[in-house]
Amino acid sequence: MPLDGDWASIVDPYFNGLFSFHHEVKANGWFLNRKAKPDDTFPTEYDFSKAPVLKVPADWNTQRESLLYYEGPVWYQRDFTYQPREHTRIFLHIGAANYRSWFWVNGQKICEHEGGYTSFNCEVTSAIHAGNNFVVAAVDNARHEEDVPTLQTDWWNYGGLTRSVSLIEVPEAFIDQYDVHLSRKESNVIEGWVHVEGGKAGDKVLIEIPELRSAGSGVLEADGRAQVSLVASKLERWTPQSPKLYTVKISAGADSIEDLIGFRTIETRGTKILLNGQPIFLRGVAIHAEAPYRLGRANTDKDAEILLGWAKELGCNFVRLAHYPHDETMLRAADRKGLLVWSEIPVYWALQFDNSKVLAKAQQQLDEEIGTSRNHAAIILWSMANETPNTEARTRFITTLAERARTLDPTRLITAALLVRAEGQTKIIDDPLGTALDVIGFNEYIGWYEQQPNGADTTQWRIEYQKPLIVSEFGGGAKAGLHGGNNERWTEEYQAAIYSHQFEMLNRIPQLRGMSPWVLMDFRSPNRPLEGIQDGFNRKGLISDQGQKKKAFFVLQKAYLENSVGTPESIPQGRSQAKK
Ligand code: GCU
Repeated sequence: MPLDGDWASIVDPYFNGLFSFHHEVKANGWFLNRKAKPDDTFPTEYDFSKAPVLKVPADWNTQRESLLYYEGPVWYQRDFTYQPREHTRIFLHIGAANYRSWFWVNGQKICEHEGGYTSFNCEVTSAIHAGNNFVVAAVDNARHEEDVPTLQTDWWNYGGLTRSVSLIEVPEAFIDQYDVHLSRKESNVIEGWVHVEGGKAGDKVLIEIPELRSAGSGVLEADGRAQVSLVASKLERWTPQSPKLYTVKISAGADSIEDLIGFRTIETRGTKILLNGQPIFLRGVAIHAEAPYRLGRANTDKDAEILLGWAKELGCNFVRLAHYPHDETMLRAADRKGLLVWSEIPVYWALQFDNSKVLAKAQQQLDEEIGTSRNHAAIILWSMANETPNTEARTRFITTLAERARTLDPTRLITAALLVRAEGQTKIIDDPLGTALDVIGFNEYIGWYEQQPNGADTTQWRIEYQKPLIVSEFGGGAKAGLHGGNNERWTEEYQAAIYSHQFEMLNRIPQLRGMSPWVLMDFRSPNRPLEGIQDGFNRKGLISDQGQKKKAFFVLQKAYLENSVGTPESIPQGRSQAKK
């Protein structure tokens, strides 16, 4: 039962609603009651019935001008009626709440959560009752050094219940997790596991793919998990060209689930990336979850259709979803459209890498990301981090995350976006973190943060790893509609020149296996004040936030459609490689 829509809201900058004047959590806080009690000795000042509304799912920053820059606590409340059924459990599912959040149902504290870009579930079975109910949430997007991400980001800190909220009712024993994928070893074997919360050892699990007339089963172990496998003889593999999805039915006791899943394998061999055993070059673009045209957090099917539609128009077979896990709508659209995905947790720039509490937060976000998104064929890369400083504490921190990701999901590749260093005109990729990665991402801004666009022509590269490389960021800013010479910054011509020179240079890196230029669309950022040009937006988009395609869009599109970027051996045989 969706709980999306209008929620009453109270902006509470000093969090006075939760904390007393001596900063203790208020025991019998007002928020436990839907309405002020008439006989309250002191007339309460926090009364949802008199409060304005905020839409959910959405950030609050783009809903009211007064909240554009607001960072702090906001209270949400809404009523709902419900008829709980016997032998069921009920959960409040939150798609995402940025950054810290607390939840009460009918005055009972349900849960609290930290992390703004992953979904979580809170059990409300004991708090909910037949008839009228109400839920109260407090969401605080204030930034702290010990957070993930930390104080500085180059994207807007959109706060609120930014993704769908709903009530989910399931049988007492229910399927809470499953992993279904194509075996890397045996070509037509689909394998995986199913976990049944409340399931008993010996209980049976069934998995079926009706279209393939194929079925398999498994038996729960003491930990509630059953290994499953089935043979799918006439399986059509998922590829960017034909993103075939199958309806998969999983049932256990009184519970059953249907999901649309594609089957493909992804692995590396030496410096190659192999999709279904074939070398592939990842023609990509980086994307922020900024909603095109309307701005704010992207969270609808329409947002995903527009953003990924532009990526397809560019000739992409790959997208880097930066710098945090994106909405389920985006991942489902990528599955449907045949776009391979780089998914990332916001271990961004300089976290407190020597703080074990911070590591625990990053691990929780990784668990939540993989836990919810593991069955998307589109996702091929789990990225652990972006542009982190080369320190021992950092390398230890992220290596721990990489090992955890491999344990959670041995079927995908682990990567991160590294910084590169330079000796003169030679760029060097030798960050020790590379050891922990399957695929190495690197960011460089030749032609923008350093040198002119033609600086790429004389740049050499020294790569200290025999692993596949992805240039996860390059590019430059341009104001859509601003024209001038190739050497005039902020013009479309200058941005286009950066791209042309980059292609020449990148094609000289033998083990380059992909690219995701920064960035598909201009996005709001707190670090971009240049009046008349940036006006609060990072303008490195190939498309403006209002859909205007810049010259560089067509430069990249031409290169992708002609396959003139990417090294011969990573371009499928028989596809002619256009003259350099
Ligand atoms: C960085 C960073 C991005 C940022 C970009 C830029 O490399 O990873 O988040 O937006 O560069 O400076 O535009």
